[in-house]
Amino acid sequence: MLKKSEPHLPYTFSRTKKKIKNRSVLAAMTNKQSHGDGVISNQEIKWLSRRAKDGFSIITTAATHVSKYGQGWEGEFGVFDDRFIDRLSLLTKNIHKYDSLIFAQLFHAGMRAPEKLTGHVPISASNIPSDLSPTGFTESASIKQIEQLIFDFSSAALRCVKAGFDGIELHGAHGYLISQFLGQKTNQRKDNWGGSINNRVKFLLRIIEEIKKVVPESFIVGVRISPEIKELGIHLDESLELGKLLAKTEIDFIHLSCWDCFKRSTSYPKDKRTLTEWFTQSIDDLPTVISTGGIWSTKDAEAVMSQGADLIGVGRVAIPYPEWAANLNIKDYSPQKMPFSSEDLRKADLSKVFINYMKNWRGFVKDEK
Ligand SMILES: Cc1cc2nc3c(=O)[nH]c(=O)nc-3n(C[C@H](O)[C@H](O)[C@H](O)COP(=O)(O)O)c2cc1C
Repeated sequence: MLKKSEPHLPYTFSRTKKKIKNRSVLAAMTNKQSHGDGVISNQEIKWLSRRAKDGFSIITTAATHVSKYGQGWEGEFGVFDDRFIDRLSLLTKNIHKYDSLIFAQLFHAGMRAPEKLTGHVPISASNIPSDLSPTGFTESASIKQIEQLIFDFSSAALRCVKAGFDGIELHGAHGYLISQFLGQKTNQRKDNWGGSINNRVKFLLRIIEEIKKVVPESFIVGVRISPEIKELGIHLDESLELGKLLAKTEIDFIHLSCWDCFKRSTSYPKDKRTLTEWFTQSIDDLPTVISTGGIWSTKDAEAVMSQGADLIGVGRVAIPYPEWAANLNIKDYSPQKMPFSSEDLRKADLSKVFINYMKNWRGFVKDEK
């Protein structure tokens, strides 16, 4: 079906009938602004609320850990305990003032949960080398631990319902625990949770199944995946298989994390299709497709919609330009690229901690020495 490629137009999710004012999604961005005990800070609420106020339809939180020992970063807010619900309710109330939806990005860092931060040896799909572990290796999750992790995800989703979120995004991308189960290299298990792609996908499918049992029908559930991560053994062919399996579940969206929506597959460099096109052209009955990576202008957004994406995710451009989504009705809108001064970023409601973190993203913050 030919879709209109106009990112400023509204959209309705097919199952829940939830309506949004335009096609923009603020993609999850870790910003390290929250408290050491996992409580979300006013600064983090302010950063997200500003993007809702200025026109984004969907606000996704930073990755938030569903288990205490699944934390990946300092200053990451948690969702692993009921004590977080009150402050998270404040976030969702703020976002709803502006007629935007708010999704929590649920994750467990797995092999990338530093022992220095959590006090525990990182857990993963198998026993694999990890420089974040005192032993030099991750601990392979036992069956009992796998069941506990699945329970942690569904409990976290229920907490999100209680806190007033409109939905959740399961973080199955970028090499964290869910993708460690998916990857051929990181998942070397010999039991039912490893081996074929059908087995490696079980962890994610069980999480979805258990979440769907506890959340109301109106609650949006989606999954973010990386179509290709060579180092983990995640390849396009199997990601398309995963996409087909996900399309058969009750999820509401698949979010493709492409990093660059205009690049070709590394497995098939001679094929002109972009990563998004591989999905939208090979899989029938896909739920809503969000695609993210390298989108900066209205033209970029239109081009990614022409590739078949329903919604447009952005990360970096939304940092200096909270009003980005409201400008999508301007055909030649293309805001200036990096670097940005600390003052620019402060005005866009980033705290000092977040600005300092952005200095690690090469070329993003102006050198002001
Ligand atoms: C500062 C920063 C933090 C990020 N944190 C997350 C995260 O918590 N979860 C996630 O799935 N992606 C994360 N990403 C990736 C973004 O969601 C996005 O996919 C990526 O930046 C590419 O989109 P862009 O080119 O529009 O920036 C992060 C990106 C940035 C710049």
